[in-house]
Amino acid sequence: MRILVTGGTGYIGSHTVLTLLEAGHDVVVVDNLVNSSPEALRRVGELAGREAAFVEADITDEAALDAAFSDHSPEAVIHFAGLKAVGESVGIPLDYYHNNVAGTISLLRSMDRHAVRTIVFSSSATVYGEHNPTPYVEKMEIGAMNPYGRTKEQIEDILSDLGASDPRWRIALLRYFNPVGAHPSGRIGEDPQGIPNNLVPFIAQVAVGRREKLMVFGGDYDTPDGTCLRDYIHVVDLAEGHVAALNYLTDHEGVHRWNLGSGTGTSVLEMHAAFEKAVGSPIPYEIAPRRPGDLPAFWADPSAALADLGWSTVRTVEQMCEDHWRWQKNNPMGYAPS
Ligand code: UD1
Repeated sequence: MRILVTGGTGYIGSHTVLTLLEAGHDVVVVDNLVNSSPEALRRVGELAGREAAFVEADITDEAALDAAFSDHSPEAVIHFAGLKAVGESVGIPLDYYHNNVAGTISLLRSMDRHAVRTIVFSSSATVYGEHNPTPYVEKMEIGAMNPYGRTKEQIEDILSDLGASDPRWRIALLRYFNPVGAHPSGRIGEDPQGIPNNLVPFIAQVAVGRREKLMVFGGDYDTPDGTCLRDYIHVVDLAEGHVAALNYLTDHEGVHRWNLGSGTGTSVLEMHAAFEKAVGSPIPYEIAPRRPGDLPAFWADPSAALADLGWSTVRTVEQMCEDHWRWQKNNPMGYAPS
């Protein structure tokens, strides 16, 4: 197939583009590069032995999207583009609603005009909110807790309404748990701008000497070691989940929701210890106050993705840390020339 990937130069996007190219698909990436580097796509081309086409454009620009659909004639879309920092979304909610929600509407309108009605959307476990018991199951009521999460929830609603309005739409809502790791080549990986918000990128920057120590947000939760539990998923497993969802949509209409997670909770201290093992030397940390908005523990029930897609995670926490470390060690400043 020929697939248009929004946000294809980003962390999850670049790994998915590589997986798509390796599976024999043709890819056109649409990305505005606000939070990513074109170098990622150059390296994806190197790894795959063939290139994805690239259009530098913002998803809120319908004319640019129309041109991309006319020029490249994709048959399906995987939609990653969006802003994703929870804290930032509280300060600049309009930017989040404009980029994420309005941007998705312009993408869907452009798709409809070009009769492309198959889409896989990057949603998040954050839509489950604070009231659901863990593990999370797709049929639970959702209710996000911050503007970023609400953009994901609103886009899910828009896509569900769209699917109900016209049976020709084929829609997959993929709720990601905590993506970490990197391609095993060490050539592509996560390259956060500024201070990383997420755990593993922060640990990796301490390990490579860019930060002094990890602050563990809260050591007094009601969990086995007092730190929060999350469901970490290797980014290559996640990328493969997208290909599985796309395959499913080739012979299923309608709107489908799947958790993409491992089904296992890992604590902050367990992740820290696994990363130390991958690095082979101690990584300084200290227990700090809780981070507002953090939930003590959640993980996926991934059984629907296994039953419907034949997909489940196969890569371990150990591999996540080894691969993430290889990327960070070989690229201490990310894609920026060091
Ligand atoms: C966070 C977002 C979530 C988003 C996801 C995207 C919040 C509250 N949640 O999820 O909405 O979908 O990122 O990847 O921001 N931790 C530390 N020290 C650090 C960083 C993190 O101890 O420097 C802890 C956190 O308290 C948490 C765990 O590590 O217990 C994982 O944190 P993180 O990687 O930010 O993911 P989430 O909070 O699960």
